Amino acid sequence: MGDAAATQARVDAFLAEVTARLRPTLDKSACAGAKLGATGTAVRSLLWKWAGSATHASQLTAQLTIRRKALTSAFSKVEDAGGCATNVDAVRTQVFVDRLVADIVAAFGGSVALSACELRQVAQVAGIAVGAALAPTLIAAEPLYADTAVREFNALTPENVMKWGPIEPTPGVWNFAPADALVDLAAAQGMQVKGHTLVWHSQLPNYINFLTPPAMLRSFMEEHISTLVGHYRGRVFAWDVVNEAVADDGSGLRPTYFFNQLGPGYIADAFRLAHAADPHALLLYNDYNAEFVNSKSDYIYGMVQQLLSDGVPIHGVGLQMHVTANGSPVNQPSLAANIQRFVNLGLVVNISEMDVGIRALMGDQASKLAEQRQIYQDVIAVCRSIVGCHAVTFWGFTDKYSWIDSTFGPDEPLLFDDAYNAKPAYFGVREAFFNSGPFICLAP
Ligand code: G3I
Repeated sequence: MGDAAATQARVDAFLAEVTARLRPTLDKSACAGAKLGATGTAVRSLLWKWAGSATHASQLTAQLTIRRKALTSAFSKVEDAGGCATNVDAVRTQVFVDRLVADIVAAFGGSVALSACELRQVAQVAGIAVGAALAPTLIAAEPLYADTAVREFNALTPENVMKWGPIEPTPGVWNFAPADALVDLAAAQGMQVKGHTLVWHSQLPNYINFLTPPAMLRSFMEEHISTLVGHYRGRVFAWDVVNEAVADDGSGLRPTYFFNQLGPGYIADAFRLAHAADPHALLLYNDYNAEFVNSKSDYIYGMVQQLLSDGVPIHGVGLQMHVTANGSPVNQPSLAANIQRFVNLGLVVNISEMDVGIRALMGDQASKLAEQRQIYQDVIAVCRSIVGCHAVTFWGFTDKYSWIDSTFGPDEPLLFDDAYNAKPAYFGVREAFFNSGPFICLAP
């Protein structure tokens, strides 16, 4: 066996061992304490042992040295916490290990062959969760919708059914069944669930308007968050705790009903209540038009920095990414700088609601779809390049059903067409996950 083949064999063995040891633990949404600590130790010693015996030991050692500090701290953090304090530890560790493995394989010019190459397999190898916003009515009504969703995605977000109005339409009367259907589907199909959303100024029940004085609203907010997060404790991996609380021009907080009644402290309160109801859940702030460095994302950056320094349990930020193609390329450096500054605070970042409208484009259909593909690919490539950008969610997946049609007029913003055929955008996303790197797709 030549050098290259021997190295490839070691890479393959390494991948198999890391996967076998680490993945079963990390795949659990509530981490299994000491077990993860033991796994971390095992993987760490495996890495060093493997470094010592590799054919290209010097190259490998160089790679590992670069990564050593981060790897050690990722595992130590988990171990020091006596296991996995929150899902954020699992996300950080898993993302790190997946990227490490991919980088090592790439550094050796090796390749990993995948026999199933749907988005969920490819994204998993890239260390990124890939999800879609789903509607339980469509899961029940259309087999093709359900089959495509579970085949392609390893995460889901309920598009509407966990919002305050739909899920608690009358005080204390809960309509859990539609959301339960999605959570059950996710459990059966090995998909992570991101809950959406606990506190938002839209899709509220009418009775909200009659909750005065402020103490009354405050107690309803407490009951809402505690009951909802408690109901899904251990089954919902992450929550968009507060949604779209910042003014469009970034000048301050949006004067919502919550802000006007409760003052700015309602945001910290919401995170604390969610954390108390499920201490493992990954807790996120989610907003739109804050994807790039601009006045709104500057404000959000300052806000989460303050929340962190006040000890508020916030773990990440969701950047929605509802974009309309207009002939301009994606400003990748600005997107990367924005994501990185949040990651540098110790947060994780996810692209939370991506769609790419093409209704404003001129030209023939092929060129419109090509531009859409490029935008998807460019955004995912940035996420892929930053350890800490852990998940991407599309706001739907088939052009047959998108909020954009009813809000802005007919469009084709998603990865699959009306007949559930993959569009060029789908292949752009897949290529970005592959990162034209060490993975080969064996499937047709
Ligand atoms: O369920 C009722 C139905 O019973 C009724 O007959 C029908 C009549 O219009 O309305 C149905 O509810 C609609 C619901 O979508 C489900 O289809 C609401 O009117 C409609 O307003 C609602 O729109 C949702 C919108 O949020 C509400 O603001 C969209 O589907 C959903 O995609 C959109 O998602 C938001 C994210 O939550 C936050 N970020 C922006 C994103 C896009 O606006």
